[in-house]
This record gives sequence, C-alpha cells and structure tokens, in this order.
Amino acid sequence: MNDLKNALFSEYNMNGLMLKNRIVMAPMTRNFSPNGVPMDYAPTYYARRANGGVGLIVTEGVEVSHRAASGYPNCPNLETDEAKKMWEKIVNEVHKSKSSIFCQLWHVGGIRKPGMPPNPEVPGFTPSGYVVPGKKVAHEMSVDEINELIEVYAEDAKICEEIGFDGVEIHGAHGYLIDQFFWDKINLRTDEYGGSIENRSRFAKEILMASQKKTSDSFQIGIRVSQWKQQDYEAKITSDSKELDQFFNILKNAGADFIHCSNRRFWEGEFEPDGENLAGFAKKATGLPTISVGSVGLDKDFIKLYSGDHKTQTVNLDILHKKLNQAEFDLIAVGRALLSDPEWANKVRDGKEDQIVPFDKSFVENYV
Ligand SMILES: Cc1cc2nc3c(=O)[nH]c(=O)nc-3n(C[C@H](O)[C@H](O)[C@H](O)COP(=O)(O)O)c2cc1C
Repeated sequence: MNDLKNALFSEYNMNGLMLKNRIVMAPMTRNFSPNGVPMDYAPTYYARRANGGVGLIVTEGVEVSHRAASGYPNCPNLETDEAKKMWEKIVNEVHKSKSSIFCQLWHVGGIRKPGMPPNPEVPGFTPSGYVVPGKKVAHEMSVDEINELIEVYAEDAKICEEIGFDGVEIHGAHGYLIDQFFWDKINLRTDEYGGSIENRSRFAKEILMASQKKTSDSFQIGIRVSQWKQQDYEAKITSDSKELDQFFNILKNAGADFIHCSNRRFWEGEFEPDGENLAGFAKKATGLPTISVGSVGLDKDFIKLYSGDHKTQTVNLDILHKKLNQAEFDLIAVGRALLSDPEWANKVRDGKEDQIVPFDKSFVENYV
C-alpha cells in the first residue's frame, strides 16, 4: 500500500469506538423490506460490504415508529419483533467482520404523499404545512406532536442499542422532516421552533438530547445534515459562515457524537471552490468526528443518475487521499460504488482499482 493511502486505511477512534479504517458505507434505501421487515437477503448484503473492508456501515433509512414516518414503499422499521430480529441478525453478521454498524433513523415529513398505505388518512407531518416554498399541502405539527416525536426518536435509539447497533445516525438531511425544520423557506413557524437558526435547530437538538438520555455513553448518536434539499439543490440551511458555525455548535452542545455532512461532490468547498467542504467546516467549528460523502470514486453525482444518465465510470481517489491526509474530515462515506462492488474497499487497499465494478443505475435493484 502506498503512503498516500495510509490515512484512508488507518484506524479511527470515534469517542471510544474503534473503527478499522476511515471507510463508511453511506445509508442507501433499498425498498426491500415488506411490512417493515428486512428481507432474508439483508444480513448477507450488509455482511458482504463489511467483509469487503468497510469500517462502518450506516444502514439504509429506517423509519421511526411514528404513524407518518414513511414516504416510500417497503422501507424497514423497528416496530415488530420480526423486524428487530432481522436487524439483530444483520448487526451480528457485520460484527463478525470487525466492522461497526449504525442505524439511520428516518422520518420523511412532508415528503409523505396523501393517501399512502397502510394508513392513507395520515398526512405528511411538517413544521408549517409546506414541502416546497409557497404551497401549503401538509399537516403543520403542534408542539405536542413535536414532543411526541422527540420521544419516538429517543425510544427507537434505545431499541437500536438493545438490538446491538453501535450507534444511530439521525437523518437530518435532504429535505426530510428534520431538514424541513432547518430550512427557513418552509419552516415559517413563529414559536420556539421557527425563525432564528437556534429555533430551527431546536427540534434536532431536542431529539439528540432525548436520545442521549435514553442510551449509554458508549452508544454513538450523531446526525446527518445537508445544505441541499431534494426540493431544491441550491437551497441552504444558511450561507452565512458565522450562522453555520453556530448551527454545528448547537448540534454539538445537544450531545451529537459525530456529524455526517452530505455533499453531492465531496471535493467542492463550502465557501471557497478549493477550500474545506461542509464536513471540513463542521470539524473545524466543533472538533467533533465528521463524515464526508459525495461521488467518491465516480465521475457523476447521484442526482444526475436520477435524471436519466445511468452509467458511471471509476475515477481515481487522489483528491480524497489528499483531503484525508490533511485531516480535513475524519471519515468518508461511499454510496453507489459500494452498491455495485461490495469489495470496493479491499480493492482500493490492494491497488486493484482497475477491477472495481462501476455503478450502473439500471441495475440498482439487482445489487445484493
Ligand atoms: C439508491 C440510493 C438510496 C439512498 N438512500 C438514502 C437514505 O436512505 N438515507 C440517506 O441519508 N441518503 C440516502 N442516499 C444518499 C447516499 O447516502 C449518498 O449520500 C449519495 O448516494 C452520495 O454518495 P455516492 O456519490 O457515493 O453515491 C441514497 C442514495 C442512493 C444512490
């Protein structure tokens, strides 16, 4: 292994949790969990990536135990003994390879479409009834409903610890519920959950605090955030660096053990084209462990693939190695490249990049 790769394959101590390297499997929804129960293929699917050299797996989005959490068919949850047993099997398989695994806890908020089964009468829950600016289409949450949901997250975090997960990642990115609170264009509340960055972060802060309270100190609880929203790729939580610093420190002070910053292209600087990216900014602001992500090893970002351009090519990792060697961020998540090639990490370690199987969106359902 050449020196440049040392950082990527060095161990990392995340608040006492030892990770064997810096490679994280990014959370990726599969829609293969009828009735909320991961199918039989799932333990092998995750174990393959762990065997393939990934240090930390973040599961696909797992719906929190709330009537309005789901927005897509066949996503997993934690609500039945059957689902919990499958997750336990997955966790045990991953641990056999000395990899760690976090459960991503997800609530889609207003992305939920009216009439969705199995409870078609349940509307999308949102801060102010908006999913995109200007169009009131969903339910505006009351403070009682906010408090109820905070407890749901905390209870589910506790369940995850009981199942054997090493931590949870609260999904606060991509325009789903928590991000709907962060985004001032659709969070128009005039109470303590809307307005200033402090108020818009309150929901996330209270979820983190409540979840920390219900779990042990060694259990990692972090949050994934993004500036971009699926509703608007140019949207931002804030473009003011002081406010962004404040935002990350609110999450830190609420007890976040790590911050995962979702970029579509990890090499793009947050304020300067060649400067530190969002994860780099978060690390500088808080000193917390940070995860970056976005088109690692690929020539196209994942949004492009959803607009019809299905094939990717493998590209070299020089910029990634440079950023990791400079300790801009601590860990790097890899999404699609790990779907198409479970052995991606080992191939990179062994200098076999030319043997990596490139991602093709047309096969997305067949990657197991
Ligand atoms: C099929 C697919 C499903 C995804 N599902 C989730 C998800 O459940 N939660 C999440 O936070 N991000 C999700 N993402 C985003 C990825 O975690 C990741 O941020 C994105 O794919 C960029 O990484 P990549 O360029 O390495 O693929 C998904 C992406 C893909 C391609």
